[in-house]
Amino acid sequence: MTLQLVILTVSLVVNTVLLFFLLKRTKLDKEKEFIINKTRIVSREMYELGNREEFIKDICDTVKSITSSDEFVYFSYDPLDQSLLPEYTDGPYKEQLKRSKLKIGEGFSGYVAKERKGIFMNDANKSSLAKHVPGTPDEQSSLLAIPIIFSGELLGVILQTKLNGKHFTQNEFHLSEIFVNLASAFIAGEKYVSKIKEGFIETLKLLVSTVELKDTYTAGHSVRVSKISELIAIEMGCPENTVVTSKIGGLLHDVGKIGIKEELLRKKKVLDEVETDEIRKHSILGAELIAQFRMFNSVVESIRHHHEWYNGTGYPDGLAGENIPITSRIILVADAIDAMTSGRPGKKINTIEETYEELRRFSVIQFDPKVVETCFKIKDKISEVIKSGVKGDEFATENDFNKIAV
Ligand SMILES: [Fe+2]
Repeated sequence: MTLQLVILTVSLVVNTVLLFFLLKRTKLDKEKEFIINKTRIVSREMYELGNREEFIKDICDTVKSITSSDEFVYFSYDPLDQSLLPEYTDGPYKEQLKRSKLKIGEGFSGYVAKERKGIFMNDANKSSLAKHVPGTPDEQSSLLAIPIIFSGELLGVILQTKLNGKHFTQNEFHLSEIFVNLASAFIAGEKYVSKIKEGFIETLKLLVSTVELKDTYTAGHSVRVSKISELIAIEMGCPENTVVTSKIGGLLHDVGKIGIKEELLRKKKVLDEVETDEIRKHSILGAELIAQFRMFNSVVESIRHHHEWYNGTGYPDGLAGENIPITSRIILVADAIDAMTSGRPGKKINTIEETYEELRRFSVIQFDPKVVETCFKIKDKISEVIKSGVKGDEFATENDFNKIAV
């Protein structure tokens, strides 16, 4: 992976130099400016933890605006199946085009993928190379396809169509080829960033399950706290960023316990003052651990303060009331609900009714009364999470992380 990233970075620099060299040779000032601006946007999007769909759409829209084509297909290459999968389509027959999966060598785009060379063909319906897509009119059409290749690796094919006898020009082909060649480095970059994010989520899953094994939790505690926190934040009408921060914060609230001795976490006898202080360090340790990922600032705060009490007698900073981040106030209640209803060694399992009595008893003292009140409103939904648990796929997704990344 490291070698790939080095190759990618070098290639990005080379590609940028190449861009200016190639564009300097063309006398088309407006097109030059347009492509430079679009390349800048696409490169920036790759580095931001954005949405892949938006990223691909922007690349496609750029090529489309160079050629004024009527239809568009962005094929991703699947090396295992040696096929081209339509990932993004646009135009009057976009739904039909979504079903146009091709094998390498099959049809116009398959041919371009096999030959690894862009071509265009006006009045392509006369050619045996073009494969008719079922559900689209068999009318006069012109085709232009460019393979997306980076560092020798085929990533996909961009196919454009002009309908009703309209033709592509050599200049349109030339400019879209330059842009696709440049964008290929960023498409490859996006793929690596996406893989890194996937790896990051897998690491977090491992971290959470390690903490659960180490501590006295019942399996799935963190995911249940995450789900309950999300439900509360939604019901309170929190903005999306706060909802997702509550969800991810709920998931990671106790990761700092990775740094606490297991015998202390599992000790059944009453803890002395030193031992209590030691365990309490987990909220700061967890915040410091997640702070290594700078983009998750909001989650860091929610973890640090998930044991602050509403009356100011909690830890680590003794914050009170509204000074405690709302996400931490939510996670504290969600954590308490799951801890009481799932039980811990030496402690009895509370019924839902008993748990809600405790919430009311400690409202304003430990818990934010607004959060407690919300839990009463969505008692059925929370009970459902406790009774039936949550599925593995309810672990935070890449999309969740994208929403809170700064
Ligand atoms: Fe905790």
